Amino acid sequence: MNILLLGSGGREHAFAWKIVQSSDCTQLFIAPGNAGTAEIATNVSISVTDFEGIRDFINSNNIDLVVVGPEEPLVKGLVDYLQNELSTAKTPVVGPSQLGATLEGSKDFSKRFMQRNNIPTAAYETFNPDQIEAGIVYLKKQKLPIVLKADGLAAGKGVLICLTLEEAISSLKEMLLDQKFGEASSKVVIEEFLTGIELSVFVATDGKSYKILPEAKDYKRIGEGDTGLNTGGMGAISPVIFADAAFMKKVEERVVIPTVEGLAKENIPYKGFLFIGLMNNEGDPFVIEYNVRMGDPETEAVLPRIESDFLGLLHGIATGTLDKYEMKISPDYSTTVVMVSGGYPGSYEKGFPISLPKSSEGSEIFHAGTTRNSKGELVNQGGRVIAVTGKGKTLNEALTNAFETVKGINWEKAYYRKDIGQDILNLMK
Ligand code: AMP
Ligand code: GLY
Repeated sequence: MNILLLGSGGREHAFAWKIVQSSDCTQLFIAPGNAGTAEIATNVSISVTDFEGIRDFINSNNIDLVVVGPEEPLVKGLVDYLQNELSTAKTPVVGPSQLGATLEGSKDFSKRFMQRNNIPTAAYETFNPDQIEAGIVYLKKQKLPIVLKADGLAAGKGVLICLTLEEAISSLKEMLLDQKFGEASSKVVIEEFLTGIELSVFVATDGKSYKILPEAKDYKRIGEGDTGLNTGGMGAISPVIFADAAFMKKVEERVVIPTVEGLAKENIPYKGFLFIGLMNNEGDPFVIEYNVRMGDPETEAVLPRIESDFLGLLHGIATGTLDKYEMKISPDYSTTVVMVSGGYPGSYEKGFPISLPKSSEGSEIFHAGTTRNSKGELVNQGGRVIAVTGKGKTLNEALTNAFETVKGINWEKAYYRKDIGQDILNLMK
C-alpha cells in the first residue's frame, strides 16, 4: 500500500513509526510531517487543509489509503470532499465525515447526541446571545463549581471551570456577548461539574464494528502537581490502573456500544478513531467530551502497546472490514514525557539546536515541533517539541526508561514535567 498520512505532531510520528513496521507498507508520505517523520518516510509540503492539493497528491502518487491525524481537516469536511471528487471517491480514508467530526466541532451537538443515545454525561443546557438572561437564570440555579464551554473549536482553551456565581455570570457574558473565543463561543454549553479521575479511552470504528485500544491518562497542565495553564498534553501513561476490567466493561456497555450504534442509527458516517474523554466517578463512567481523532501525547503511549499490525487496523477502519482484524495488546507499561519549548503554552523562542542521545534503550523518541534549519541542524519550531516513550514491565521501569532518555536530550530553555506517572505510583503504594 502507498499511504498518505496528514499531520505534523508527535501523534503522526508515532503513527508513521508503526505504519512503516508493516510489511504491507510500500511507501509512506506525510503531509506536512516534521523532522522525525522525514527520517523514516517522505515528507511532502502540503497543508492538512489544502483539500485540492491533497486530492492531486493522492492521484499522482497512487495512494491506497489516507490517514487523517488532526481534527481540523475533519471538521472542515476533508473526508466528504474526497468522497465527492470523482478521482478520489474510492480511496479509503481513516477519518470521519464532517457530520461525524461535529462530535468534536460542536459541544452542543455532542451533548445532544449523548442525550438521544442515553450515554452518561454531565447535565447541561446550551445558550446563544439572545438567551443571555435565561442563561443567567439557569446559572443561579446550579451548584458550584460550574463549567462553561464554548460550543466550537477553541484550541483547547474554550472550557472554563467557574468557582463563583459572579465569575460564571461575567464569563458567560464575555463568551456570548464579547465573543471571548470568537465564533466558537457564539453558543455556550453550561454544564454540571463532574468529580472523579479522568482518563482517555480510544475506539477504532468502521461505522459497524469497533475495537477498543489501550486506555491512557493525560497530564494536561504545564506545572508539576497539575498546576498552571492547560497545554495540549505534557505526558501520558498506559495502562491506567484505576480503569480496571469492571470499569472498562461499563465503559464498553454504557458508552462505546451506544456511541457506535448511535452513529449508525443516525446515519452519521464514521470511519476513524474516536477519543472519549471520561470521568471515573466512583467506578461509573461519564463522558466529558468526544474527540474525532487520536490524542496527543496519548498516541505515543498507546501505539507502542499495540502488537498486532497497525496498518491492518487502519485498513480495516477505512474499508469497513474491522470485524476481521484481531488486535493484540501488550500488558507492558508505556509512559510518555513531552519536552516543550521554554515559555510554552505562552510565547517561546524557536530555532535552538537540539541534541539527541546516541542510544535510547527501552524508549522511543517521537518528534513533534521539530524542523531542520538552513545548516541542516535539528531545531525546535513548536511548543511541544519531542515526546519520549519509555516501556517496561512495571510503571516504574517504563518511567525510568523514559526519563533516562529525556535527560540526554537538550536544547536551550527546554522544559518537561518530572512528575509524570507519580500520582499513579502513589495510588499503587
Ligand atoms: P475539554 O476541552 O472538553 O477537554 O475540557 C477540558 C478539561 O476541562 C477536561 O479535560 C476536564 O479536565 C475539564 N472538564 C471539562 N468538563 C468538565 C466537567 N463537566 N466537569 C469537570 N471537569 C470538566
Ligand atoms: N491530549 C489531549 C488531546 O489530544 O486532545
